[in-house]
Amino acid sequence: MRTLWKAPVAAAGALGAVAAHDLLQRRHAILRNYPVLGHARFLVEKIGPELRQYVVAGNDEERPFTRDQRRWVYASAKLENNYTGFGTDNDLEHGSGNVVVHHRTFARAAPTHGTVGQEARLPAAKVLGGPRGRRHAFRPESVVNVSGMSFGSLSGRAVEAINRGSAMAGCLHGTGEGAVSPHHLHGGDLVFQIGTAYFGCRDDDGRFSLPRLVELCERAPVRAIEVKLSQGAKPGLGGVLPGAKVSREIAETRGVPEGVDCLSPPRHAEFDDVDSMLDFVERVADATGLPVGIKSAVGDMGFWRELAEAMEPRERGVDFVSVDGGEGGTGAAPMVFADSVSLPFRLGFSRVYAEFARRGLHEDVTFVGAGKLGLPDNAVVAFALGADLVAVGREAMLAVGCIQAQKCHTGACPTGVATQNPWLEHGLDPALKADRLANYVRTLRRDLLKVAETCGVEHPALIDPESVEVLDTLADGRLLTEVYGYEPGWGRPSARDVDQVVALMRQVDDGEVEARTEGPPETAERGPATRETDDDRPVL
Ligand SMILES: Cc1cc2nc3c(=O)[nH]c(=O)nc-3n(C[C@H](O)[C@H](O)[C@H](O)COP(=O)(O)O)c2cc1C
Ligand code: SF4
Repeated sequence: MRTLWKAPVAAAGALGAVAAHDLLQRRHAILRNYPVLGHARFLVEKIGPELRQYVVAGNDEERPFTRDQRRWVYASAKLENNYTGFGTDNDLEHGSGNVVVHHRTFARAAPTHGTVGQEARLPAAKVLGGPRGRRHAFRPESVVNVSGMSFGSLSGRAVEAINRGSAMAGCLHGTGEGAVSPHHLHGGDLVFQIGTAYFGCRDDDGRFSLPRLVELCERAPVRAIEVKLSQGAKPGLGGVLPGAKVSREIAETRGVPEGVDCLSPPRHAEFDDVDSMLDFVERVADATGLPVGIKSAVGDMGFWRELAEAMEPRERGVDFVSVDGGEGGTGAAPMVFADSVSLPFRLGFSRVYAEFARRGLHEDVTFVGAGKLGLPDNAVVAFALGADLVAVGREAMLAVGCIQAQKCHTGACPTGVATQNPWLEHGLDPALKADRLANYVRTLRRDLLKVAETCGVEHPALIDPESVEVLDTLADGRLLTEVYGYEPGWGRPSARDVDQVVALMRQVDDGEVEARTEGPPETAERGPATRETDDDRPVL
């Protein structure tokens, strides 16, 4: 009888101990939020490859991000081995749309960045706001930056982790349209987004207020301003944050009443055509001195043609254009918009780039790409097509703990990333996840640099569209120039910008801005962040 008692008591004790450990540890949000039960997820993850090989999905079948893609982000974020063994599992022989980069056997730039975990500093090839002479023009330190995702759609802790991580990796952190919250103020430089509801820069009647914007830019580390026209996952739609999610903190941050549905209209009230939009851009740039750009999905090309024509006299203009692909992410969108409205990145971007390039404006505008570009192969194509920066959204979320449960729209995110539920949020440790975000950004930069060097150039912006081929089974392969109708010279920065960025990259290789630590290759050989102060930031 006595021994019969012992087993359940011991089991309950063991479970209690596991639960206590799970609640107290800080490494895994899922265990803090779901003590004991959460271990099942790790078990399934561990034996997943073996299970899937026989019964479930392949490495490339899950969407939006395949298992391979997520594994690469997670491993990079944890500085674990992100290599692949045994060879590609992509169907290069029979598949369609596989992208192949042309390496060079002999080339100008010799590969120097090849080690796992090696730090790579990778500043932009263009000076943001330089061509239009903005007072606070600057060269972004990192070609990889975090795309705008608002506080409201993301939890405060996720925003904090991203901001801290951005500071560590020297990249820019987009605020999204939900204004600047205290969670954005942990050292990372910001790209402030002006959305249609003007959160963070609106007067008491909800109208845009230039003095409030100027005041915000003085009190927060805002380096650039992005006027949001539309988002790839839901172009032409406004947004709703349900009243239940409008906490006091969100209400204060956005300047709206607490507990009441928070609406963003589908269009701006401050301008209604290209002409008035350019006036608005110039007004904002004059008042703040900051580079000002637009973010948009791509559908009807009439808008882009008109914009490029209006900028041709070079009297008014946007400093940057962020093209968001239809495959891009959102906190919540109707399915038909997510699935069927706006072009995917490569098609949309190449059409927009062509409108500027035909008029000789492509060298003056900084092009930002978004839409699953936080993966090295996709990002390489973006740079070859003429992107100067990539903005990563969901990949940054993966780095801070997202497991692609796709419940962002319900508020019940199990990892505390996309929720305002205090219990779910408390599992996310911002300090730990900040490290992960920084590791991920650095690793992506390093891989991009490795691919550039394989192509014989010093920087990914110098990979030209003739160096990338799109395969259609074994029967056909076409260069990006052919697929997207690019003319000679398109896709590259100006000769002057090329000289400057090559000079900068040589400084990197001379060891002036890079350091490494020793370690086993499969875990890490990493260097510290190479962030510079405002004073010595290299604006050439
Ligand atoms: C949760 C979430 C919230 C977002 N919020 C905004 C936003 O406030 N403003 C915006 O312009 N884009 C927003 N986006 C879109 C991203 O900034 C980005 O453009 C898009 O997800 C494509 O990048 P990705 O494929 O790397 O995620 C959001 C995306 C997600 C997933
Ligand atoms: S874990 Fe799921 S609900 Fe949470 S952010 Fe990721 S996809 Fe959204």
